[in-house]
Amino acid sequence: MLMEARVSPSGTFDNSARDYRHIEVQPAAAALGAEVAGVRLPDLSDEAFAEFQDALWRHKVLFLRHQNLTHAEHEAFAARLGPFAIDAYTQGTGGHRNVHPIIKEANHTSKAVFGSGWHTDSPFLAEPPSVTMLRAVDIPPYGGDTVWANTALAFRFLSPVYQDMLRPLKVHMSAAANYATQAKLAGKALPFSSDQQKDEALEGRLHPLVRRHPETEEEALYLDEVYAIGIGGMTQEESWPIIDFLRRHITQHAFTFRLRWEAGMVAMWDNRATLHLGPNDYDGFRREMYRTTTAGTAPV
Ligand code: SIN
Repeated sequence: MLMEARVSPSGTFDNSARDYRHIEVQPAAAALGAEVAGVRLPDLSDEAFAEFQDALWRHKVLFLRHQNLTHAEHEAFAARLGPFAIDAYTQGTGGHRNVHPIIKEANHTSKAVFGSGWHTDSPFLAEPPSVTMLRAVDIPPYGGDTVWANTALAFRFLSPVYQDMLRPLKVHMSAAANYATQAKLAGKALPFSSDQQKDEALEGRLHPLVRRHPETEEEALYLDEVYAIGIGGMTQEESWPIIDFLRRHITQHAFTFRLRWEAGMVAMWDNRATLHLGPNDYDGFRREMYRTTTAGTAPV
């Protein structure tokens, strides 16, 4: 039997921290992710913010403890990252239309929760979000973690021949399959914020399957488990083995980092070079999170 090639962190993994003057950065895993300590987000000077952004592009996921942000502080910090993205699913919370609640009550059980499959945020948009920021208010005693995978590192671990085969391809990102799955598993369809959002999300977009990061120039795989439904110009039979192999390749444990949330914590990630999921593993406990997304540009 042919065994799948499982990667172990090697000399080509480099998630080491740069030396910064205004922030302390501590890598959290071999593949991606780092903790930023010694600062509160609303207090970052312009110099500290520039270092913070550099660290975000480098580590792809940053988290900070003990932030306890208000909705206004959350929204104000996210606005420093760039204009807000369209959120196809939620409407914002009282007075802060860019701050979107993700709340699951203790008495709510479901076979599917928001974000529980591997995905990049809203890739069905023409200009999908660059950064997502998530803050924890109420956290289950166990479960409710978030896990990320580094899609740039995963691309580097493909053979040059396979990389060359992928570069010209376009992936069809659409919410159609997820919409049907959620409706079946959760017993009701995911609500969209408007009929226009729904139509655009279900139709989706063709995007480069290998995208170049606008800040770092790194190439990264751009496909996921939730929204990638085909490859432009290919039949389902032709595209499925490629999509299936790549999503298993990207999400193998060597390329991942898992965050155990604490109340008051904030995390943010770069959707252009990561996938993430929030496992549906905390039935019986309440989880209250708030999310903002920053607009990105069309993937190239
Ligand atoms: C998300 O997919 O943006 C949410 C992930 C989570 O709730 O952990």
